[in-house]
Amino acid sequence: MQPSKNHWDKIYTTKEPNEVSWTQELPKTSLDFVHNAKLNKQASIIDIGGGDSKLVDYLLDDGFENISVLDISAEALNKAKNRLGQKADKVNWIVSDITDFKPTKTYDFWHDRAAFHFLISEAQITKYLSTARKAMKENGIVTIGTFSTDGPKKCSGLDIKQYTEETLSTELQNGFEKIKCVIEDHTTPFNTSQNFIFCSFKRMKKITKFIKDAAQYYPYGFRHILSCL
Ligand SMILES: C[S@@+](CC[C@H](N)C(=O)[O-])C[C@H]1O[C@@H](n2cnc3c(N)ncnc32)[C@H](O)[C@@H]1O
Repeated sequence: MQPSKNHWDKIYTTKEPNEVSWTQELPKTSLDFVHNAKLNKQASIIDIGGGDSKLVDYLLDDGFENISVLDISAEALNKAKNRLGQKADKVNWIVSDITDFKPTKTYDFWHDRAAFHFLISEAQITKYLSTARKAMKENGIVTIGTFSTDGPKKCSGLDIKQYTEETLSTELQNGFEKIKCVIEDHTTPFNTSQNFIFCSFKRMKKITKFIKDAAQYYPYGFRHILSCL
């Protein structure tokens, strides 16, 4: 079964935050990645599949001025807007399936906790990554958190794709360089544990990508250049 707008709208209209496994009072790992990126307050940040996560609340409290939250479910975003009240006006809310998203601006920081892993097919993953490559500024940072191979096999009744540090890094090897990965045991509102892998990647400069790609085809001539990068 593939994730759909109707599925997610129904979840967000029928369940409270304490009734869904992914709820976090404090999205600490995500905030650590944001803070480690040393962004200025005008940096453009997008939370993919942000749902009604409180990440946006903390980013606003930190003084970030250019925040977007994208989700397939309008109901999810309405919940977040209602919670934030007037502060919601400072956020750019985008209702879209990420695989249909056509960014109209570029971003310094892309965050995704527990949305990417719902993309099961090669075609969906390819679209997501192609959008991320186009949407990110050079040196912009993409942080993705998914269930690990020690985590659940399903979420919200839907199949998900589990990742390891290696498999997630392999997905992003075209156009991104890995910065750091961490494992997190998320405690659900029902006191169960879900094992996540979070990795951050830097959008490669086009020239670096060109040289790395070329080195794959001409490994001897380019080895020296590569070692200098
Ligand atoms: C498990 S929830 C995680 C929500 C939030 N990121 C968090 O950490 O609390 C997954 C979210 O991804 C959204 N989602 C699922 N598939 C999506 C897609 N194809 N495009 C955009 N959002 C999607 C869902 O509506 C839901 O809000």
